Amino acid sequence: MCGIVGYIGKKEVKDILVDGLRELEYRGYDSAGIAVLQDDEIKSYKAVGKLKNLEDKTKDFASDGLAMGIGHTRWATHGKPTELNAHPHLGEFSYVVHNGIIENYQELKSSLQKDGVKFLSQTDTEVIVHLFEKNYKELNDPMSAFEKTIDTLHGAYAVLLITKVDPEKIYFAKHGSPMIVGNDDKGDIHFGSSDAALIGKATEVIYLDDGDYGYTSQEGISIFFDKEKKALNKRALTGDKISAQKGGFRFFMEKEIYEQGEVLSDTIIGRVLDEKINFEELHESFFDGIDEIKICACGTSYNSGLACAYLFERQAKIKTVVEIASEFRYKEPLMTKNTLFVVISQSGETADTLEALKMAKRAGLKTLAICNVDNSSIVRLADHTILARAGIEKGVASTKAFATQVMAMWMLSIYVAQIKNTMSKDEIKSELNAMRHIPNAVIVSDKLHEKIKRLSKRYLHGHGFFFIGRDMFFPLALEGALKLKEISYLHAEGYPAGEMKHGPIALADSELFTIALMPKTLHYDKVKSNVEELSARDSTILAISPLEFELADDFIKTTHCEHPMSEFFEMMVITQLLALEVSVRLGNDVDMPRNLAKSVTVE
Ligand code: F6R
Repeated sequence: MCGIVGYIGKKEVKDILVDGLRELEYRGYDSAGIAVLQDDEIKSYKAVGKLKNLEDKTKDFASDGLAMGIGHTRWATHGKPTELNAHPHLGEFSYVVHNGIIENYQELKSSLQKDGVKFLSQTDTEVIVHLFEKNYKELNDPMSAFEKTIDTLHGAYAVLLITKVDPEKIYFAKHGSPMIVGNDDKGDIHFGSSDAALIGKATEVIYLDDGDYGYTSQEGISIFFDKEKKALNKRALTGDKISAQKGGFRFFMEKEIYEQGEVLSDTIIGRVLDEKINFEELHESFFDGIDEIKICACGTSYNSGLACAYLFERQAKIKTVVEIASEFRYKEPLMTKNTLFVVISQSGETADTLEALKMAKRAGLKTLAICNVDNSSIVRLADHTILARAGIEKGVASTKAFATQVMAMWMLSIYVAQIKNTMSKDEIKSELNAMRHIPNAVIVSDKLHEKIKRLSKRYLHGHGFFFIGRDMFFPLALEGALKLKEISYLHAEGYPAGEMKHGPIALADSELFTIALMPKTLHYDKVKSNVEELSARDSTILAISPLEFELADDFIKTTHCEHPMSEFFEMMVITQLLALEVSVRLGNDVDMPRNLAKSVTVE
């Protein structure tokens, strides 16, 4: 997703900006640009593709003495990845970079166009710079014009703006998208949409809050909230890249669990619209002649596929089969042209999944990848790709990639439902509304994390774990068990709750731990009676549910139960944290568990 940098100081501005953008490359982008203001003149450069292209374009440019600049890597949401759509966007005398989405941009754009403003790009961002200039012409004061501009914007944004009418300042605003401002010990000012861009540059930083805006100059940083000036809450920024990349967390896995709200917002941005799902990367006609979906993947990605198969059948009314890629390869599978072949992969390099995709292509099937790594082998091979937008996942045990895969496929199931007319407008709207709430459902509260930390000490021994659930919560149980196995090395299985009585219940005794996923919105009574059966055989029960369950030995109460998917995502976080805390207590290497690799490029 997009990245922002900014700088005021005497060092070579271009180098600082490009270097900062390089640190944000991992978030993915398809174009990049910078604008540098010096001696009342603004120079701007943009290039499609990798930063190397931008460097080539700027090779003859260098700032000299005090100057300032803003830079951006863009991940296309509104409009194609072209140079015109790349940031910074210019007006007559100002430039802007922006992350996020301006929800009311159409209405703002039409009104500006009526006033005669010409737009060069298809982006939502461009309205910001024109609006600022319009307000400046009315108010003749840059700060009031900026304030009025951001008051008019709806949606999520982190914005930097430079303007010739106030050539010593960078204006900034943050609402819903991250933005950090800092300084080094010489007083030079640095901006970044993630601290990765500031490490080694700024020594002190301020993590801006939603609603913060203001300006910076060589004189310092001024932050406002609700028109009141705020005290500066500066924190030291470590110069150690690895620990800074962990953002204060003990492990990458922990950080990745915590950042799921942010990456899920990235996954839905520009795709979950007011009344429909929109995938720029797909065309409805791609689904012509398709009446079956086959999903193929490995490990966690397989579990996400299994979960979403329920959605494809329930919502899009399309037959969906999920297969483990390593099995699919050698079973001489029947492949018919009415089948859309979907592969899911975090890395895009998993050998078994890649080979399954090649087989489907050879059989002439339409293919679609749900993948987190652009330009990976799987992305290059599939007909189309929906990028999961989880950002780089460093923990070997996958967490945020799983979350974004499920979200991407939930959106896809609604997209197919739109095409096939299997849901009413109201039903679709209510799904879209539920999607917008998911980033909240995955927020980790201190209370929850503390509770799981405490509980974990009771789950270190015993002879095994059964994670159980029904419907979509069965694949979530599989995923919960896989997480625990991977990093705690304890034996864990995921099982459909209703299937326990057909064999596994023989294992039940007080040393068997049952992690029961008991959502309120999906088959609660059925799961409850399955858990009662286990409790009657003395299994130790950890129930996860919004409804009190008196037979539980331990109980984690969930709070988001307005929709099965909000329950799903909230329970997902709880199982991830449980695996993490059990592993920590056992003294294991959470980020690099034994015997496992992040990308499995062998059979
Ligand atoms: C589990 C995990 C693995 C991967 C599997 C597929 O935490 O990371 O099970 O999910 O190796 O990898 P990708 O998704 O890269 O194809």
